[in-house]
This record gives sequence, structure tokens and C-alpha cells, in this order.
Amino acid sequence: MADRRPMMAGNWKMHKTTTEAVAFLEGVAAGVDKDTGVEVVVCPPYTALSAVGADIKKKNLKVSLGAQNMHWEEAGAFTGEISPLMLVDLGLEFVIIGHSERRQLFGETNETINKKLKAALDHGLKPIFCVGETLDQREAGQTTEVIAAQITEGLEGVGGDLSERLVIAYEPIWAIGTGKVAEPEDANDVIRHIRALISSLFGVDTARKIRILYGGSVKPDNVAKIMAEPEIDGALVGGACLKPESFLELVNYQ
Ligand code: 13P
Repeated sequence: MADRRPMMAGNWKMHKTTTEAVAFLEGVAAGVDKDTGVEVVVCPPYTALSAVGADIKKKNLKVSLGAQNMHWEEAGAFTGEISPLMLVDLGLEFVIIGHSERRQLFGETNETINKKLKAALDHGLKPIFCVGETLDQREAGQTTEVIAAQITEGLEGVGGDLSERLVIAYEPIWAIGTGKVAEPEDANDVIRHIRALISSLFGVDTARKIRILYGGSVKPDNVAKIMAEPEIDGALVGGACLKPESFLELVNYQ
């Protein structure tokens, strides 16, 4: 994976109360208190962010914190939404943008995702920008074009060196929460295409440095094979990141 720093990111989705979140950290603390070269990120639900952030600091853990979504405006009449300023205020580093569950269940489009990506970058947050095709699109041979549209439209008008400020996650929708992991070689191929597209949009240097993760049914028993692929720089993990033992096996995949 060239000299890109591997990343293991846990997307907790709508799981864990604050008490459960703090208990989880207690369970993983001894395994994430030193720098192993892998960047470890957890993305709890909004309600647990503050407690998890405080606990990471208190225990001096080598874990970065991310949110799972945000609105693009700084403030306003947007009942139920959370702004980039609010995430910055909590000291967060990352924010997942454009997860397929947001696209499929909450009406997010490449256009709204573009607004969110710009707002996150403008506020110094590092987006973990998710892209991926449905099973129908894959079977119709449309994977590359669907992902190219998601990337091109999602990053429309975004400038500057993105290599340290943006992470991309390729998450084929048919592999999320289904136990059907993509063949590592297939995921590697799609990610190679994504890197080539980033090269044509933002230059070779950015493409060489930017981290592109795979997500979709990553588990302790398949993570090493996935991470052995040269284009895959890490994983965005749902279900298997929720239990301390399994999470620690993932972050210590090497
Ligand atoms: P699973 O690991 O549960 O398949 O979820 C993947 C995902 O959606 C991470 O964002």
C-alpha cells in the first residue's frame, strides 16, 4: 500500500448508549494505548461522542473520533440536524459522509453529499467519503460508472491537496451487513479505478497518498486477506467493530 498509513475505522451506526460506549472503551483500552502504525478511528452515535471523546483523552488512547453524518450549514432551522461547528466543538477529527444507509434510507444524493463534503473540509474535519454500488448495478456491469459519478459529483468544486484531508471508503452495498464480503481482488480492482479517477481529478501525488478503505462484512477472519491487497488501505467496519474482542482483532490484523 505504498507509504499510506493503514486505517481501521469502526462505524457503530445506531448502536450503544453512552454507558455501553464507555464500557466498550474500557474493554479495548489495553489494546489501543500504543501506536501500532495503524490509525484507529471510532464513529459512535452523536449522543455518545462527548463521553467517548473525554474517555479517550482520560485514558490516553491512540484512537481518533468521528461522527457518522452532519448537515452542511453551520446553524439554522434544521430540526434534528447537527452542524460542522458542533462537531468541531467536540474536537472531532473525522466525519463519515455519504454512507449508503444515508443515501438509501434518508434520501441523500450526490448533490447533498457534495455540500456536506465541502462543509466538512472547510471546517477542518476529515471526511470518510463512502461510495459503492448496489447488487443490481454490479450485475448490470455498472460498478465503475456508478462509482465514478459518486466521486466526480461528490467532489465537484473541491480543491486543494486532499491527500491528508480526505479518506474514501468503497463499500459495495450488497456486502454491507450481509456477511457477503467482496472478493479481495475485486475490491482491489474497484479501488484501483477510484485511485485512477482521483489521479485524473486531483493529480498523481494526491492519488498516490490518499487512503481508500474497503467496507462490507469485514471480520477478524477475513481482514488480513483484505489488507494484503495493495490498493486497500484500511477498512470501515460495522457489525464486527461493536464487541471489544473482535474490534481488537481487527485493529491488530497485522
Ligand atoms: P458491516 O461491517 O456490518 O457489513 O458494515 C459495513 C459498513 O456499513 C461500515 O460503514
